[in-house]
Amino acid sequence: MEFTFQVPTEIIVGQACIRKNAEKFSQFGKKALVVKSGSAEKNGSLADVLHVLGEQGIEARVLDSVPPNPTPEDVQALCGYAPEFTFVVAVGGGSAIDAAKGVAILAVNDVEPAAMYDRSYPNKPLPIIAVPTTCGTGSEVTAVSVLTVGDSKQSFSSPHVLPKVAFLDADYLRTLPMRVLLDTALDALSHSAEAYLLVDSWSNDMIAEQAFRNFAKYKDAMLRREFSDEDRALMLYTATLGGIAIYVGGTSAVHTMGYPITVLKDIPHGRACVLTLGEYIEFAYDAKKEKIDTMCALLGVDGVGGFKELLKSLIGETVTYTREEIWELVEIAAEPAIKKRNAKPITREDIFEIYCAALCREQ
Ligand SMILES: [Fe+2]
Repeated sequence: MEFTFQVPTEIIVGQACIRKNAEKFSQFGKKALVVKSGSAEKNGSLADVLHVLGEQGIEARVLDSVPPNPTPEDVQALCGYAPEFTFVVAVGGGSAIDAAKGVAILAVNDVEPAAMYDRSYPNKPLPIIAVPTTCGTGSEVTAVSVLTVGDSKQSFSSPHVLPKVAFLDADYLRTLPMRVLLDTALDALSHSAEAYLLVDSWSNDMIAEQAFRNFAKYKDAMLRREFSDEDRALMLYTATLGGIAIYVGGTSAVHTMGYPITVLKDIPHGRACVLTLGEYIEFAYDAKKEKIDTMCALLGVDGVGGFKELLKSLIGETVTYTREEIWELVEIAAEPAIKKRNAKPITREDIFEIYCAALCREQ
C-alpha cells in the first residue's frame, strides 16, 4: 500500500468565521473576483464576504450568478481573461466552487476552456478562497472541478485550484430549501461511502468513518425534515470530511453513473448519485464485507437492506427508465465508470444491472 495524505486547505469552522478572520483575505492581494451562486445574497454569505473585502481595502468584482451544472463555456462567459485580479472568492454550492476553479485558470490565461482539461495554460491559476453554502460538494477541499460536457460531466484537476482557505459557517444553510439540504447531505454521504470502499483505500478510512458517525447523529433530523443549528453545523463539517475523503481517494462508478441522470433528467447531483449507491453497495458486498458492515453499524442501519431503506426514505422524487433507456445511460457512463478504482472490478453488464435494479420501470 502506498499513498500520500495531505490536506493543504486551511479549514476555518464556526459562526461568523468570515468576519472573525478578515485578515485571511488580504494575504492574496488587493483585487478579488467573486464567483457566486444565485442564493449567495439571500443566505448572507455574499454580504459577509463583501464586508471583509471592503474592510481590508480589497477591490471586488462580483460576477453574475453561476447557473446550475455549468459548462466550460459558461465558466468562460463569467469573466474571461482578467489578469489584473489577484485571487478568487467562491461563494455557493458545488456549481459555484467548481466554476470558480475554472475562473481562477481563465482569468490569468488567455486560452480556450479546453485548456483547463489538458492543462495547456502557461500561468499558475489564481488562489481561491471557498465559502460553501450547501452541505454536499466538498469542492472546498478538492483539486477537482466537475463541469457539464455533452450528456455527462467531465472533471479537470490541478493542485493550484485546491482552495487555500475554506470558511464553514452553517448559518448560511438556514435559508437552504429543504430538498437542497437533503440532496446535498446525500452527496456528502455518497462521497464518504464511495471513497471508503475504493479497491485499495486505507488513506481515508478515519475520515469516512467519522463522516458515517456524524451522519448517524443527524439522520433522524433528515427523516423528520427538522434541523437544529447543531445539526446544520455538523452536516456542513461532514460534507467537508466527504470532500477530504474524495480528495485523498476519489469517487467511484456511482458518481459517474449519476452524471447522465443529472444532465439528461435534471435530477440534482447528490440525489442522482445515491439513486444507485444502495445497489452498488450490494454489488460490492462480497469484496468489501467487513468495511460495509462497519459502515452500516456506524450509520446505525440494519445491514445493506437497512442502508437501502434509509436512502429510499431520504431520496424523495426519483426517476424511472425503460431497459432501452438504461442502455443509453450505460453507453454514456460505462467507460469512465469502469476506469474508477471501484470496490471491485465492474463491467458494462454490472452497470446495466445496477441501473436496472435501482431505476427500471419494466420487470
Ligand atoms: Fe458529488
